[in-house]
Amino acid sequence: MKDTITFGLALLCLAAAQSSTDDATSSQTTRAIDPNLIGTWTTKSKTVFTGPGIYNPVEDKFTEPSLPGISYSFTQDGYYEEAYYRAIDNPTTPSCASSVLQWQHGIYIQLANNSLSLSPFEVDGRQLLSEPCSYEQGIYTRYSQEEFFLKYEVITDPFHGIKRLNLYKFDGSPMAPMYIAYYPTPQMLPTMTLNPTASATGAAASGSAKRKRDVSEPLPYGKPTLPSQSQLLNPDIWWWFGLGATALGGVAYLVF
Ligand SMILES: *[C@@H]1O[C@H](CO)[C@@H](O)[C@H](O)[C@H]1NC(C)=O
Repeated sequence: MKDTITFGLALLCLAAAQSSTDDATSSQTTRAIDPNLIGTWTTKSKTVFTGPGIYNPVEDKFTEPSLPGISYSFTQDGYYEEAYYRAIDNPTTPSCASSVLQWQHGIYIQLANNSLSLSPFEVDGRQLLSEPCSYEQGIYTRYSQEEFFLKYEVITDPFHGIKRLNLYKFDGSPMAPMYIAYYPTPQMLPTMTLNPTASATGAAASGSAKRKRDVSEPLPYGKPTLPSQSQLLNPDIWWWFGLGATALGGVAYLVF
């Protein structure tokens, strides 16, 4: 119980630190986030979703989806999460197709002109590159990529009759359309730094700074750094893992 209260306080500090950062960056250039963006979005394959189903931060491990796809989640209070699973064609040896899994989360702002700017928590993002013909095991590394979407549209898809998000990259080229999957509660892992490192300073890391880990790259996939027994018993970890599980109970809109 005491741990829960301490953790709650840490979260409050995080929230306070967050809003002061927001105040510093906002001014006239940002606007309130459009409620139409809120929720979890996924591409037509419906195989990739943000949240605990694709990335398990306790075991620091991906679960490979059955087919390629992209998913984004946005919250009303300025957090986002994204997951990509892409196939990389190998024209010379088609049987040697590689694939890449990427996951990251962080904060985003909506600019006054509706462009979206996404800044990941850089220690948390992960990438798994699988090149079955070159390496027996995937290459597991940290991944951190800022993103800028020039514009977006939320429309009702004329064919499927459900909400659809069109994101346009920094250069104006469209991404594959995404459809609403969870609303109004997005399916996301907790919107805080999950894998703080010795180098990650500031309030964001204070909630679980106990879970320091080696920052060397690449991380060996297949041999995940399992939490120690004491970490497994740490109620903080289970508190937020439970939160992820709760999010799974949100209303799903997958009938398209
Ligand atoms: C919105 O403003 C940003 C920052 O000034 C700029 O980079 C971006 O191109 C603008 N977006 C549009 C749609 O003009």
